[in-house]
Amino acid sequence: MKQEFKIVICGGGSTYTPGIVKDLLQEKALRIKELWLYDIDKERQDKVALIVREVIKSICPTLAFHVSTVPGEALLDADFIMAQMRVGKLEMRVRDEKIALKHGCIGQETCGAGGMAYGMRTIYPMVELIDLCEKYATKDYWIVNYSNPAAIVAKATQKLRPHARILNICDMPVEIEARMAEILGVSIEDLETDYFGLNHYGWFTKVRCKGEDVTEQLKNHVSEHGYLSKASYDDALVRDPDWLHTFQNAGKIMRLFPDYLPNTYWQYYLLGDDILSDSDIENTRGLQVIQNREKKVLKAAWQLEQGHEINLEQFYVGIHGKFIVSVVKALAYDTRSRQLVIVPNQGIIKNLPEDAMVEVPAYLTSRGPEPIRIGSIPSFYKGLMEQQNACEELLVEAAIEGSYSKALQAFTMNRTIPSANIAKEILDEMIEANKEYWPELK
Ligand code: G6P
Ligand code: MN
Repeated sequence: MKQEFKIVICGGGSTYTPGIVKDLLQEKALRIKELWLYDIDKERQDKVALIVREVIKSICPTLAFHVSTVPGEALLDADFIMAQMRVGKLEMRVRDEKIALKHGCIGQETCGAGGMAYGMRTIYPMVELIDLCEKYATKDYWIVNYSNPAAIVAKATQKLRPHARILNICDMPVEIEARMAEILGVSIEDLETDYFGLNHYGWFTKVRCKGEDVTEQLKNHVSEHGYLSKASYDDALVRDPDWLHTFQNAGKIMRLFPDYLPNTYWQYYLLGDDILSDSDIENTRGLQVIQNREKKVLKAAWQLEQGHEINLEQFYVGIHGKFIVSVVKALAYDTRSRQLVIVPNQGIIKNLPEDAMVEVPAYLTSRGPEPIRIGSIPSFYKGLMEQQNACEELLVEAAIEGSYSKALQAFTMNRTIPSANIAKEILDEMIEANKEYWPELK
C-alpha cells in the first residue's frame, strides 16, 4: 500500500484553506509527499496561499508546497483531491438568499431555493473536476468532496459519473457530535452514533458513549437547552451568534418530534416561520460571512504583503478540518474508521429508493465506504425524505435535460416554498441572476 500522497485542495482560494492545511499538517500519521492548492481564481488563491505558507512554516517548513491554476499540473498524479469549490463565490450566495427572501421564502445557502440555485451552478463544474481527475490523477485517486450543496452534488455526480472515485461528506453531523460530547463532558472519540438521512436532512437515532446508550440522556438535555452546554461556549462556532441560535433551535425540534435527535438543518424545513421572522434581507448569512470570515482572510493576506506578522490561531476551523482529514486518512491507510458519509442507498434504508443518496454511518476503507444497513424507517421520516429526494432528483434532471418544467417541479416540491406561483417567480428570477452559471433551461 502506498504510504505518501500528493494532496490537492481544489478551491484553494477558500477562506477555510488555511485552517484545513493546519489540520492536515498536524495529523502526523498522514504522510504528504506534495501539497497543492488549485483554483480558477488566481488572485484570490494567491492571497490565501500567503497565509498557507505561514501555516506551513510554523508546522512543517520542509513540505513541498505548490500553488496552481493549471489542472494538468495541479491534478497530475494526485492521490487525494479535497474539493471545496464555491461556484459564484459568496456574492452569489448572497443573491440566492436575497431572491428567496424577497419572495417570502427561506434564503439559505444549501436549503430551499438558495440550495437549488447553488446546485444548478455546481453540478457541471464538479463533473468537470471528475473528468480532469480521471485524466490527470493517479488511477486510484479519491475526490473527498465537501463542496455544497452536497446532497445535489452527490446525486448529480452519481447519475452523470457513476464510476467516479468521489466520496461526498458534510461536517454538520460531526459538529453536532462535538456538541453532544460537550454536553456529556466526554471526548468526541468516545461517541458512536447511529444516523440516517439525506445531507442536511437527517436524524441521530442512537448515541453510545464508550458502548453505553446515552440517547435518552441527550434527548432530555437537547429538549431543554438545544445542543448547548456550558462547555460549548468555548467553541468558535458556538460563539458565532447565528450558529448559537441554530444549536438552540434544535431544542424546539426535539420537543416537537421526540423520536430522534435532529440535524440542525431541520430548522429551515420544519421551523420555516420562525426562521423567516428572524431573517433580515440586509444582513443575510452570506453577508455575515463576507464581513467576518472573508474579511479576516483578506486582511491577513494584506498584512503579510505589507511584511507584518499575523496571528494564525484565527484560522482554526475546529472539528470541520479534523473530520475531513480523518476521512482522507481512512481512505489512505484503510483505518476503517466509522464516519457519517453520503452514499448511494442501494437498500441501506429499505423503504427508500435504491438510487437516493443517503447520509449514514460507514466504515471507511481504502476501497471506499462500507455503509451500515438501517432497515425501514417510520412514515413521517420516510415521507419527508421521499419528498426531498424527489425534489433534488427533479433538479438534477432539469440540469441534465435543460428542462424548465422539471426545474419548476423541483422548486414547487421543496418544503420551503409554499406555492407553485411563488416557485415560478423565484425560479424565473434565479434564471436571470444565474445566466452566467446555469445550464440553459427550455
Ligand atoms: C456547516 C455545513 C456546511 C455549510 C456551513 C455554513 O458546516 O455542514 O455545509 O456550508 O455550515 O457555514 P457558514 O458559517 O458559512 O454559514
Ligand atoms: Mn454540510
